[in-house]
Amino acid sequence: MRVCVIGLGYVGFPTACLVARAGHEVIGVDVNRSVIDRLAQGRLHIVNEDGLAELAEAVLRSGRLRVATVPEPVDVFIIAVPTPFRPAQAVDEAAATSTSSPLDRPQGAAGLPGPDGRGPAGPSEPPFLADLSFVEAAVRGLAPHVKPGNLVILESTVPPRTTEDVVRATLEREGVDVARVRFAHAPERVLPGNVVRELVDNDRIVGGLTPEDTRLACEFYRTFVRGEVVGTDAATAELVKLMENTFRDVNIALANEFAKVGEVLGIDVWEAIRLANRHPRVNFLRPGPGVGGHCIAVDPYFIAEVAPTVTPLIQTARMVNRGMPGHALELLADLAGGRLPGRVAVLGAAYKADVGDDRESPSYEVIRLLEERAVKVAVHDPHVERFRKPLEEVLAGAEAILLLTDHRAYRSLDPCAAGRLVARRLLLDTRGFLEAAPWQAAGFRVARLGAGILEVSPGNSEGRAGSG
Ligand SMILES: NC(=O)c1ccc[n+]([C@@H]2O[C@H](COP(=O)([O-])OP(=O)(O)OC[C@H]3O[C@@H](n4cnc5c(N)ncnc54)[C@H](O)[C@@H]3O)[C@@H](O)[C@H]2O)c1
Repeated sequence: MRVCVIGLGYVGFPTACLVARAGHEVIGVDVNRSVIDRLAQGRLHIVNEDGLAELAEAVLRSGRLRVATVPEPVDVFIIAVPTPFRPAQAVDEAAATSTSSPLDRPQGAAGLPGPDGRGPAGPSEPPFLADLSFVEAAVRGLAPHVKPGNLVILESTVPPRTTEDVVRATLEREGVDVARVRFAHAPERVLPGNVVRELVDNDRIVGGLTPEDTRLACEFYRTFVRGEVVGTDAATAELVKLMENTFRDVNIALANEFAKVGEVLGIDVWEAIRLANRHPRVNFLRPGPGVGGHCIAVDPYFIAEVAPTVTPLIQTARMVNRGMPGHALELLADLAGGRLPGRVAVLGAAYKADVGDDRESPSYEVIRLLEERAVKVAVHDPHVERFRKPLEEVLAGAEAILLLTDHRAYRSLDPCAAGRLVARRLLLDTRGFLEAAPWQAAGFRVARLGAGILEVSPGNSEGRAGSG
């Protein structure tokens, strides 16, 4: 078949490569000219993806994958463009009122002053809505090329009913005879870093607007997916994707809430979670300074948007997780004796360990909150290009170390060497990652999110949680 993949990002590009490897003739389309220029020269714009470079080289060299800035007539269109969220006011003032919820306010650090005693500029965040403008633009772009019998597949993560209400409806408005076009939603559920393998091996949910649409779309995915391809209807497929990430967001919110309970009671929640997870049917995820990434921190809003009055739990979980950067600041102020330190070395900008993905990373919110309070911040991250610098440079002159991402590289930090650079020897570990005792032995006062300020326990390999 001839296939056009629209949007050559983290999802669309590996998909285009795999579809081409399966023997289809693929044209990859992106509006970003620099992406197309690079690919046309055989240079990849996505790095750190296992197996992608070899795969891309093979399909580009064979000519089975070509790239362009505009679509062409084909048999199957796959749309994989971004679907970010944005504050409701920026999208639609009326929608803002209808989805506004008293729960949708960030917690933590609300009145916390900075080292100079100044307070924040003012919190209060609006609710968020899905920005479907990229999807609409992509659909308008392919409209002139759509013919009867074509299959139009939406892979972008979207609020339920978008395939019908936006994709099909936009094509209809553009004058396409939509009754003779097939539509489906096939959400992505891949792990950055492992996309090539997961696109092939993961089970795939594929939902058409009609049973025949589902059948045809499933048949297409079976040409390059080894996992089970499971058919359903489009709206269910849309909801399933959002449910998966919301499940994780709510679970993390619960872990974060227990982290605060641990701090209040002087109990190390990391140890408590380890023990609770020995129950065969309990599986807590880990607390931390917030939730990041392109999916988990975004997708719950897409459900709250379409069902605002019946989703208090989902909205509360978002609020709890969005409040964690502020909570980290509160802990840091406690650790420093009531006021934030004047200069902080932040370790970790990526949203999770050992990757360079910093999209929606809570680290940036922590940094923003610190800078808003006139704290001087130096950032280090071995995986994020612009923060890849000598660690000593970041630590020198700082009053405190704030560990935000549990990159393996930080495990080998030498507390004694750090102690010579960090003026006040304060360490806040928001990932339950560093062993406290060596840091305490090097003269650091140590706090851990989910435990509070750790007491020095002589003869013990680990500091005990204090009341914080
Ligand atoms: N990245 C992930 O891990 C992941 C996982 C699951 C689902 N998703 C979802 O997949 C979708 C795509 O995400 P991504 O991470 O690949 O995004 P991305 O930002 O990496 O790439 C999107 C690409 O689409 C291009 N684009 C935008 N508008 C266009 C248009 N009108 N025509 C052609 N190209 C256009 C952009 O230039 C960009 O290169 C999103 O809905 C996302 O939520 C992503």
